[in-house]
Amino acid sequence: MDMSKMDKLVSLCKRRGFIFQSSEIYGGLNGFWDYGPLGVELKRNIKEAWWRDMVQAHDDIGVLPGAPSPFEMVGLDCSIIMHPQVWKCSGHYDLFHDFKVECNESKKRYRYDQVWGRWVEAKGQRIFVAVAAPGEEGTKETEQKALKFFNLRAKNVEELKWEGDLACLTAVKDFAPVLGPDAKSLGTLGEPREFNLMMKTIIGALGGEEDAAFLRPETAQGIFCNYKNVVDSSRVKIPFGIGQVGKSFRNEITPRNFTFRSREFEQMEIEFFCKPATSPDWYKFWRDRRYQWYLNLGLAQERLRLRDHHKEELSHYSCGTADIEYAFPFLAAGDFGELEGIAHRGDFDLRSHQEGKLVRQGDNLVVEQGPDGKPKYKGSGKDLSYFEEATKERFISHVIEPSAGADRATLAFLCEAYCEEEVKGDQRVVLKLHPRLAPYKAAIFPLVNKDGMPDIAQKVYRDLKKSFNVFYDDSGAVGRRYRRMDEAGTPYCLTIDGQTLQDQTVTIRDRDTLVQERVAIAELEAVIRARVQG
Ligand code: GAP
Repeated sequence: MDMSKMDKLVSLCKRRGFIFQSSEIYGGLNGFWDYGPLGVELKRNIKEAWWRDMVQAHDDIGVLPGAPSPFEMVGLDCSIIMHPQVWKCSGHYDLFHDFKVECNESKKRYRYDQVWGRWVEAKGQRIFVAVAAPGEEGTKETEQKALKFFNLRAKNVEELKWEGDLACLTAVKDFAPVLGPDAKSLGTLGEPREFNLMMKTIIGALGGEEDAAFLRPETAQGIFCNYKNVVDSSRVKIPFGIGQVGKSFRNEITPRNFTFRSREFEQMEIEFFCKPATSPDWYKFWRDRRYQWYLNLGLAQERLRLRDHHKEELSHYSCGTADIEYAFPFLAAGDFGELEGIAHRGDFDLRSHQEGKLVRQGDNLVVEQGPDGKPKYKGSGKDLSYFEEATKERFISHVIEPSAGADRATLAFLCEAYCEEEVKGDQRVVLKLHPRLAPYKAAIFPLVNKDGMPDIAQKVYRDLKKSFNVFYDDSGAVGRRYRRMDEAGTPYCLTIDGQTLQDQTVTIRDRDTLVQERVAIAELEAVIRARVQG
């Protein structure tokens, strides 16, 4: 765990206007974040890179490396609030929950599976010391808490007889000997209780329970509900994918680790529809393609991994899932956190929205029955099957879902980019963001504010502004201006100097190599375009 790197990054994000705590002037709101002037550009660039690479620039007629055949891609932008029946049929109403435990002493709530602790015996008493942090940090915390509880000094630490390593609270049967993460006495944690993660809202002015609705916890369901509209209106043929970028909301019990687990966040999701027999090949294709996307945009291979889920980890709809995970600095050394999930959802969603909510019965998915023997939640009754002209086959499409988080991706790119290094005896902080993602593509500096340099610099700025987000800075020494742009992740700095007045060239300084070259003003647009698209 590298908390010092994380602390420095969080502080840079605030100081330079990448990310602020939401409603900060009122003390903040836990689990909600705002993107500042630099952050909004970075996050937009990430979403636009995703949209461009996955949807717009996709070659609908060519076969991509690793793909079983050509495929089409289109987009959608669905509403955040949907008919409440959507969430009943999707399974979220019944199944999208975590277990929480509440402490009656500290009044704090914890996610049951995110409380860790260790059994320890001292002074003839055996207790389970619980903490809210895993790994090395959690182990250290248990020691501090145990010393305090048993009223022991650090030098008497050997009096603590530990049993085993840090374990999850879920393994503890009886909470009477448990010392809660923020409690001073034993047995203050209540029984684990189910907690639905969907955020409730009310539609219309009457405000009764019959007007209750939910903010979507994933963008995916808007795609499933519009599947038929897209097939009928855009004449796409299976295999094809629908992409969507948009906000999702989850009432996370313990939002944590900066923006990693928030209550409001953005997703970038693809639902890819294919024939059942080809779905395993498409699943593999999307796993590999999405993994490569992060590498192409600068995440280092040693900090990025693809991990297949164990059977017990699979969501209620999934018959196979892999996560793309990143070694975020707030995690213990060797630990990885989820960046994106690629799920093989089979025909669960389309059939649920057609027939009613499905449940697994052995190897089959069947409509779940209510106590009256009728479907527990009725589907739309619409025919969501697909007829393939070429083979005259009718089938319900299988779905592969690469589901990424825009905020987690932003955080991963920031963590990867953050770097402290020495330059000519000076310490600099630099964000080595991929040029495609950088908030500003270039900064323009007149070397001095005289001799006509500002006029040329302003013209360069205005001309480049038509093509890219660029920044103009004429204050302070050039070295300081470079440092400010290094912290903002700006890949190129252009300086208009004495020589510019003679030959209409400027220096272009590379953020990472620090190499400076001279480029003709007339060629700047083309030179920058070639570099930022790389
Ligand atoms: N449609 C499938 C789905 O929503 P998920 O694994 O629950 O799957 C997909 O979420 C991605 O959304 C995650 O990999 C993560 O990047 C992002 N995400 C999920 N919950 C989040 C949260 N509370 N805060 C930030 N990002 C989140």
